[in-house]
Amino acid sequence: MSANSEKIKQLIALREQAKLGGGQKRIDSQHKKGKLTARERIDMLLDEGSFEEFDMFVKHRCTNFGIDKESYYGDGVVTGYGTIDGRLVYIFAQDFTVFGGSLSETFAAKICKVMDMAMKNGAPLIGINDSGGARIQEGVNSLSGYTEIFQRNILASGVIPQISAIFGPCAGGAVYSPALTDFIIMSKGTSYMFVTGPKVVKTVTGETVTQEQLGGSSIHATKSGVAHFVVDDEEEGMGLIRKLLSFLPQNNLEDAPLAVCTDAIDRLEDSLNEIIPDNPNKPYDVLEVINAIVDDGEFLESQKLYAPNIVTGFARFNGQSVGIIANQPKYLAGVLDINASRKAARFVRFCDAFNIPIVTLVDVPGFLPGTGQEYGGIIIHGAKLLFAYGEATVPKVTVILRKSYGGAYCVMSSKHLRGDLNYSWPTGEIAVMGPQGAIEVLLAKDIEAITDPQEKAEFIAKKEQEYKDAFANPYNAAKYGYIDDVIEPRNTRFRVIRALQSLATKKLVNPAKKHSNIPL
Ligand code: HXC
Repeated sequence: MSANSEKIKQLIALREQAKLGGGQKRIDSQHKKGKLTARERIDMLLDEGSFEEFDMFVKHRCTNFGIDKESYYGDGVVTGYGTIDGRLVYIFAQDFTVFGGSLSETFAAKICKVMDMAMKNGAPLIGINDSGGARIQEGVNSLSGYTEIFQRNILASGVIPQISAIFGPCAGGAVYSPALTDFIIMSKGTSYMFVTGPKVVKTVTGETVTQEQLGGSSIHATKSGVAHFVVDDEEEGMGLIRKLLSFLPQNNLEDAPLAVCTDAIDRLEDSLNEIIPDNPNKPYDVLEVINAIVDDGEFLESQKLYAPNIVTGFARFNGQSVGIIANQPKYLAGVLDINASRKAARFVRFCDAFNIPIVTLVDVPGFLPGTGQEYGGIIIHGAKLLFAYGEATVPKVTVILRKSYGGAYCVMSSKHLRGDLNYSWPTGEIAVMGPQGAIEVLLAKDIEAITDPQEKAEFIAKKEQEYKDAFANPYNAAKYGYIDDVIEPRNTRFRVIRALQSLATKKLVNPAKKHSNIPL
């Protein structure tokens, strides 16, 4: 055998060794927990054969606590690039089989390298998290490593899409890298995220909680809103990442890819002419409206279970990717509260950062009243959504389906916040407040003066009807040009598509500034 072939043999052997991570025993243990290994995850996510790995032969340099006697090629994280549907992505996947996927100085340097390359080449970054956190033996070098990653997450924000999958533990300060990214996906039963674990919680607050109760996927999907998507297993997670990326551009200087649209652009949806109930207090499902108007009824909903009184997600009109924000009358009558405002504001800002037009469907009775909301700072949180819409320069198309009252009218992509094309269905009700509240305020003294209950009720009903006739329609707003047109519901798809087409060349730039000061 020649010297060259000897060297090639050695390379192949080293690669095989590196691919085993922390060894077969630990790989088996990973599988037993219902989890895939880092390399299996990458192979499942990327286009077949497209993965190019970096730094396979990196080893840690730590000597504390005898760790110098134990080291593995790759040092616990697999990094590199590949393609998804032929489009470049950078990726890192933490390898739990090596020191529990814990983060060392060299491990962090590997992640920083792919982050820098993703930024340089304008391609999305995907991080797969499965780690015991800071590698204890590395001390402050691990903390510095995390912070180097955070800094890059921050600089990459709004430049390239960043997606985090949590497929195992993600605890302590480690949670802040995913938190700084655009989307977090968690797997049911095998993932958890918390700043301090159950043992610390018990010591500090006396509470007894399990990992699942403290930071499992269902908690973050419903209560905290930290997770945007929950998947049953990792395979579903990979499919979701691929789908999500299909709606996104590679970076902030590009547009999202145009898909081939086979759904007729002038498709009439007769059901929409009947979807608004006669009784204004009766709910309907705004998802039915979304599904009826977008291409092939395909809608990728983000934060589905969190603040369900507002719906956010991606869809396409004539192949063009859009972000949809819609009040959901099925939950809390579609009211805007703290959580809904925060959820929608962040979504609007994501779309605006990545040149994705925004379509807003409005049916909102106002902001939620009460001490709970006021003490929680609805003023500041509601202002986030107002700010996000007002700051957004992407095409904005708004359709008022029914109620659009008070401050919520202003906030929900109104003409006055530079809404480009604002339509209303004939069922639109655009006013300072609903009939009941208005009559109570305007005619309180007259109502009080009537002693007979029957007469009182009749008076109120009559006045409410008068108010409805005067204000509960879209024509007052249309009279002032605040509504560009009142459209037939069944024709909404076509009107939105035409609006988006007309806005394809929109140019709008905000005043030069270092950055804005959104009410955080
Ligand atoms: C070094 C670690 C490690 C860590 C796990 N391992 N976590 N090594 N540093 N942080 C090693 C274990 O020694 C073990 O080695 C292997 O990884 C697998 O761990 P197990 O405990 O056997 O696995 P499991 O039972 O599944 O439990 C997983 C776990 C647990 C819940 C994550 O390992 C754990 O609690 N680890 C410590 C978590 C933690 O407190 N991390 C620091 C958080 S503070 P062998 O050789 O047996 O395979 C933090 C600060 C970040 O992260 C700040 C950023 C700003």
